[in-house]
Amino acid sequence: MNPLFAPGLLAGKTAFLTGGSSGICLGIAQAFAHHGARVAILGRSQEKLDAATALIQSEGGQAAGYAADVRDYPALEAAFQKAAETFAAPIDILVCGAAGNFPAPINGMSPNGFKAVIDIDLLGTYHTCRAAYPHLRKPGASVISISANHAHQPYGMQAHVCAAKAGVDLLTRTIALEWAAEGIRANLITPGPIDDTEGMRRLAPTPEMRAAAVASVPLGRMGTKQDIANAALFLSSDAASFITGSEIVCDGGQRMTGTRIFAFPTGSPK
Ligand code: NAP
Ligand code: COA
Repeated sequence: MNPLFAPGLLAGKTAFLTGGSSGICLGIAQAFAHHGARVAILGRSQEKLDAATALIQSEGGQAAGYAADVRDYPALEAAFQKAAETFAAPIDILVCGAAGNFPAPINGMSPNGFKAVIDIDLLGTYHTCRAAYPHLRKPGASVISISANHAHQPYGMQAHVCAAKAGVDLLTRTIALEWAAEGIRANLITPGPIDDTEGMRRLAPTPEMRAAAVASVPLGRMGTKQDIANAALFLSSDAASFITGSEIVCDGGQRMTGTRIFAFPTGSPK
């Protein structure tokens, strides 16, 4: 539990997180549960979901897992319906965090490789928000999309992710605009390089690349999952009730240092 936030900050609230079975979004789910929310997490692997829900429950939280691919709209609709039956409450906090990434140059990925990431990140975020909409608390729900600095500047070997996250950014702001009349807020959290995550294992697999990632951060360190969870706690709390269509850039200042090319000397490590 983060002592900077009240223990019961999210008491009585229900959260639904895609990508909540590992990494950054599992960290957010743990933090939400610590602060009193019931959490539903969604990913493809039942095994990962079982491990994540067991972890949250072992920490005293309430959690349920739903297996679905965010590219499969009917499966998502079914997951939201099942969660609604389990929790018997509208969703107060929706986190769109499921994503895919691999480093590859434009000419080193197939059209299907590019499409896979667009489909998971961008289409998946649209599917998630669209399927969640009937279940969101109105007024009061908070939608959070997990973006990346890729949405704002080109990164070599990341064309698919840049295109996808730029779409996620404007999709989320458009949701903020359209759904504001119903009292739903929608915002973005943009993590910088976050330690001990699949994303960084893929983008910085060697000690040299890890050092380069740290060197790109003015604050001189990678972020932690707790750093991102803190931003999510704030955005989902009443303290952020007048914030919508906005972005928390939680990156130690990395965006200010500009664009980069991930230098895989032998091309993409497939
Ligand atoms: P991660 O541990 O690999 O988490 C990805 C999550 O999404 C897992 O729960 C995964 O579960 C789920 N997922 C992937 N594809 C899916 C699909 N098609 N349908 C449903 N669920 C799917 O990744 P992470 O590094 O923590 O990244 C989490 C988020 O932060 C992503 O949005 C990423 O773009 C963003 N981000 C990360 C960093 C970083 O430094 N790591 C930096 C900037 C932004 P299954 O595999 O079981 O499906
Ligand atoms: N370089 C180039 N192309 C790659 C690649 C790589 N490293 N990894 C996958 N691809 C291509 C595949 O070859 C395939 O294209 P093809 O059909 O033309 O051969 C396409 O991407 C889809 O791959 P597949 O493995 O069938 O997709 P999937 O839907 O099962 O998985 C991924 C999606 C590729 C994004 C997979 O890495 C994934 O599931 N990632 C989730 C975890 C993650 O990325 N976490 C970090 C988040 S920041």
